[in-house]
Amino acid sequence: FGNGVLAGLNVLISAGPTYEDIDPVRFIGNRSSGRMGFAAAAAAAAAGATVTLVAGPVSLATPSGITRRIDVRSAAQMHAAVLEAAAQADIYIGAAAVGDYRPQDVSATKLKKHDGASLTLRLSENPDILASLSAQIAHPFLVGFAAETHDVASYAQGKLQHKGLDMIAANQVGSGLGFEAADNALTLYWADGAVELPRAAKPELARQLIAHVAERYRATRR
Ligand code: C5P
Repeated sequence: FGNGVLAGLNVLISAGPTYEDIDPVRFIGNRSSGRMGFAAAAAAAAAGATVTLVAGPVSLATPSGITRRIDVRSAAQMHAAVLEAAAQADIYIGAAAVGDYRPQDVSATKLKKHDGASLTLRLSENPDILASLSAQIAHPFLVGFAAETHDVASYAQGKLQHKGLDMIAANQVGSGLGFEAADNALTLYWADGAVELPRAAKPELARQLIAHVAERYRATRR
């Protein structure tokens, strides 16, 4: 057995936003920078894991030690890439901010304005990647993120339950933390416990997150 708390384990991490195309020049996206997920990938590699990183559209260099990076754009592409890679994964950390909806019809040509008339976009719901994995009989240890603007604890614990997760990392977005920020603060919840990781730079927070994931993984799988 090599060094590090995740030695010998395959860790799959999704990071960044997804873009849902409306037409050739427009899309629906979100403010995720990918930095928390990339930091988690770096920390997992430093802890000895074999790391596969599925990245949405971000402008971030691949951290050293990552074995495989798969770049995707839409939620559907991320769903397919994660499900394919999950068959080999011991742990999946869903740090991506996956778009909940996609335009029902993608226009092949640029949409045009029509004399002040309103425009209605019809949206279809995207499949939930974490919920798809947890529905499988054999699936990796599942870690989700819950970025919330309010009622963080109750939404996070609700997601832990209804998505069938082993752990959820909850954070408040806005107020200089979370999306687009250098710092974050997380509260980790699992079925019978919780721990607060106070405000820190994302790489430091990611190291702490990975240490707790490794500990909970060992507790449930051994
Ligand atoms: O429900 P909500 O989107 O807030 O949950 C966030 C968590 O669920 C994140 O871990 C995110 O990666 C995951 N998620 C997912 N598939 C979706 C939407 C969110 O796996 N379609």
